[in-house]
Amino acid sequence: MIRKATLADRPRITEVRHAVRENRLSPASVAKVDTTADWIFANAAFWVWEEAGAVQGFAVADPRDGTIFGLFIHPDYEGRGIARALLPLACEDLRAAGFAEAALTTDPGTRAERFYRANGWREAGRRDNGEIVFRKPL
Ligand SMILES: CC(C)(COP(=O)(O)OP(=O)(O)OC[C@H]1O[C@@H](n2cnc3c(N)ncnc32)[C@H](O)[C@@H]1OP(=O)(O)O)[C@@H](O)C(=O)NCCC(=O)NCCS
Repeated sequence: MIRKATLADRPRITEVRHAVRENRLSPASVAKVDTTADWIFANAAFWVWEEAGAVQGFAVADPRDGTIFGLFIHPDYEGRGIARALLPLACEDLRAAGFAEAALTTDPGTRAERFYRANGWREAGRRDNGEIVFRKPL
C-alpha cells in the first residue's frame, strides 16, 4: 500500500534510511537531513510503501528547491518495482509546486544510478565529491 507518512512513521523511515547498503548517510549529513525532514513532515509529504505491517520504502521531494530529497527501499524489498511506483508521487509534488524539472544526486556505480538512467533521468554533471547530478523534466 502507498500512503502519505504521518509523524508516527518517522522512526521506521529513519530505520529504512539507515538499512540501505548504498548511498548511506554520512555522519556529517545527519543534522542537515534531520532539519530538512522536520520541514517536510510539517509542510510536504513523505510517500511510503507499507507491507507486512511496516514501512519498507519511501520517496520524498523538497518543494522548496525542486529536488528529490530521498528514495530509499529496505534491502529486503528491492527489485520489486517499489521505487518505480513511489518516485512519480514525489515528482508530482514538485510539479504541483511549479517546477518543470526535478533534480537529485546519487553516488556513481550504484543500483540507484542504474535505476535513474533506466527511468529517464539524464546526467547533468558531477559534484566535487563525485556524486552524479541527475535531472528529469516533469
Ligand atoms: C535504488 C533503489 C531506490 C531502487 O529501488 P527498487 O525498489 O529496488 O527499484 P525497482 O524495483 O523499482 O527497480 C529496480 C529493479 O527492479 C526491476 N523491477 C521493476 N518492477 C519489478 C517487479 N514488479 N518485479 C520484479 N522486478 C521489478 C526493475 O526493472 C529494476 O531492474 P534493474 O535492477 O535490473 O535495473 C533501491 O535499490 C535503494 O533504496 N538503494 C539504496 C539507497 C539508494 O541508493 N537510494 C537512492 C539515493 S539517491
